[in-house]
Amino acid sequence: KNIAIIMGGYSSEYKISLKSGGVVFKYLDKEKYNAFPIHIFKDKWVHVDEEQNEHPINRNDFSLDLPNGKIVFDCVFNAIHGTPGEDGLMQGYFKLMGIPQTSCDYYQAALTFNKRDLLSVLKPYGIISATSYYLNLGDPINEEEIVKKVGLPCFVKANKAGSSFGISKVYQKEDLSEAILKAYKEDDEIIIESFLNGTEVSVGVITYNGETKVLPITEIVTENDFFDYEAKYEGKSKEITPARITKEQELMVSEAAKRAYEVLKMKGFSRSEFIFVGDQPYMLEMNTTPGLTEESILPQQAKAAGIELPQLFESAIKEALK
Ligand code: DAL
Ligand code: MG
Repeated sequence: KNIAIIMGGYSSEYKISLKSGGVVFKYLDKEKYNAFPIHIFKDKWVHVDEEQNEHPINRNDFSLDLPNGKIVFDCVFNAIHGTPGEDGLMQGYFKLMGIPQTSCDYYQAALTFNKRDLLSVLKPYGIISATSYYLNLGDPINEEEIVKKVGLPCFVKANKAGSSFGISKVYQKEDLSEAILKAYKEDDEIIIESFLNGTEVSVGVITYNGETKVLPITEIVTENDFFDYEAKYEGKSKEITPARITKEQELMVSEAAKRAYEVLKMKGFSRSEFIFVGDQPYMLEMNTTPGLTEESILPQQAKAAGIELPQLFESAIKEALK
């Protein structure tokens, strides 16, 4: 089968996505699959071959003309973080083209990529989150009102972004506007959340052999002030799998992550973040094309569950082709 591994994307996360896609390419079983790395950038969609030659994708049907013939893809492995691979745009395109792809469907991607909307949809299902304040580009910034609602310190985040791009922890009211400007560089919507003081955990939920499977939970211990970009990708954190939490906490957070996955009718991989305040998990967000780099959490969790990367990637393709 011909598999297009899409990577890159239009957001600040493109470098991480190139690494994730590289890992998928490296571990995908070449005896079973013909894998083609495809770079998706604003100015070009191209297959990059082993000699680093670029071959443009035909965007009318996502096919590829190579010197020895036309390639039509049986399945797309989605390794794009952020737009357009994690927010539903590529999902909608592939759905129209009739090409199966490994991540969730377009609606679920659009919903989960929007932190505010995801958290408000999940609330009635008992999945709770921090108190938050929402801003749209152009809205007046009322520091008094923000601090009154969320307190200090607080987190200022781009509402639709990943890998901590645009996030600041703010300790004093005077620093809010600078943090807000920084977040607006990543998105035109901002979510400001109360600081939750507790243990951060990451919960991978995937469909594996036709069943919803919660992977071993990872605890995040960062040397930095929070789990920022440097902590995530430049070694300034420790990720401990399985997390050092009580059995009861493990059950609660696994159940919450699984409920979220099922309520939303998710497919493919997901990795949800929570912070425990006491025994109560608060949900931060859900990633539907989680990082697959050597530093990333989901591959570590899969290994802890006894699933090696070739098996993990093959299962994603098999599920997509069902
Ligand atoms: N957004 C990054 C890639 C992650 O969730 O792993
Ligand atoms: Mg994220």
